[in-house]
Amino acid sequence: MKAVRIHEFGGPEVMKYEDVPEPQPGPGEIRIRVIAAGVNPMDWKIRKGMVGKVPLPMIMGLDVAGTVDSGESGALFQPGEEVYAKVSIGQGGYAEYTVVNSTQAAKKPGSIGFIESAAIPTAGLAAWQSLFDIARLERGQSILIHGAAGGVGTFAVQFAKWKGAYVFGTASEKNEQFLKSIGVDEFIDYKKQKFEDVVGKVDVVLDTVGGDTFERSWGVLQPNGFLVSTVASIPEGMPEKYGVFAKTLMTRPDGEELAKIAGIIDEQQIKPIVTTILPLSEARKAHEMSESRHIRGKIVLRVAEDPE
Ligand SMILES: NC(=O)c1ccc[n+]([C@@H]2O[C@H](COP(=O)([O-])OP(=O)(O)OC[C@H]3O[C@@H](n4cnc5c(N)ncnc54)[C@H](OP(=O)(O)O)[C@@H]3O)[C@@H](O)[C@H]2O)c1
Repeated sequence: MKAVRIHEFGGPEVMKYEDVPEPQPGPGEIRIRVIAAGVNPMDWKIRKGMVGKVPLPMIMGLDVAGTVDSGESGALFQPGEEVYAKVSIGQGGYAEYTVVNSTQAAKKPGSIGFIESAAIPTAGLAAWQSLFDIARLERGQSILIHGAAGGVGTFAVQFAKWKGAYVFGTASEKNEQFLKSIGVDEFIDYKKQKFEDVVGKVDVVLDTVGGDTFERSWGVLQPNGFLVSTVASIPEGMPEKYGVFAKTLMTRPDGEELAKIAGIIDEQQIKPIVTTILPLSEARKAHEMSESRHIRGKIVLRVAEDPE
């Protein structure tokens, strides 16, 4: 099969579009014929060797949508079913076939195609787990979302709105109308305004940016508020100093949560925002775009033609 692998860490040029053996499912696993693969900043961080030691050569990619091709005993899905999944590092999403434990997969939303479905797993689960599993965001609470126009942010904005929260979102000027259209109540242009001057105190901050943005976020939380960061580690003693809670997200694959998200999408409550679609053979270009840190929504690689 064709896949995009790395044999060493480095720039986009270390990714090779090449022939590799097809993976075979083990007990409880399914093999997915991949139709689309999502691209995440984590992909280029892994490619650069920023995520620590991973066995090489390695097929890139963490998010897929496709059809079940074969399965082993104990697998939760049958051949032919349309699924989407977050695959573990090394299993490989940028490939014509991938193998996952069936608990990492769910039926894909019926109301959208494979391309949009492949945009969901990592970013959608990151937003879901940050807001609901960690910060326990409730109806009527307020949330500040840093990086609201990005992959994680566009899901977080829509989930927060769906829950009934009041949403502040930061991005640059070009994203103002877009973010208001997906649920941001108050837009903050981080290049022109200090969010501290706009939000007062909020119940939850979701930080997907880090650095100075993360450091300035402690001061805008209500007592017992929650700061979740997808990028920054929590310095010892800071939550106690501010009387708040804080956690760094570690997104985990979770088929049951993907099934819940699929349900909300099928009720037309939220939609994945895909702004760039490239063929699998152009994974290098996808990484260059993602590394710019100014993509709106998601980039998705088309691996095979949609059968529909
Ligand atoms: N820990 C985990 O489990 C986990 C899971 C998922 C993601 N992550 C990490 O979380 C981060 C975000 O992921 P992502 O997929 O959302 O990234 P992304 O899609 O690449 O984010 C791009 C967005 O960031 C915005 N942005 C850039 N600088 C900003 C700033 N200073 N203030 C506000 N917005 C800014 C851009 O908006 P403008 O163009 O308007 O500037 C753009 O829309 C990445 O570092 C990723 O690796 C971690």
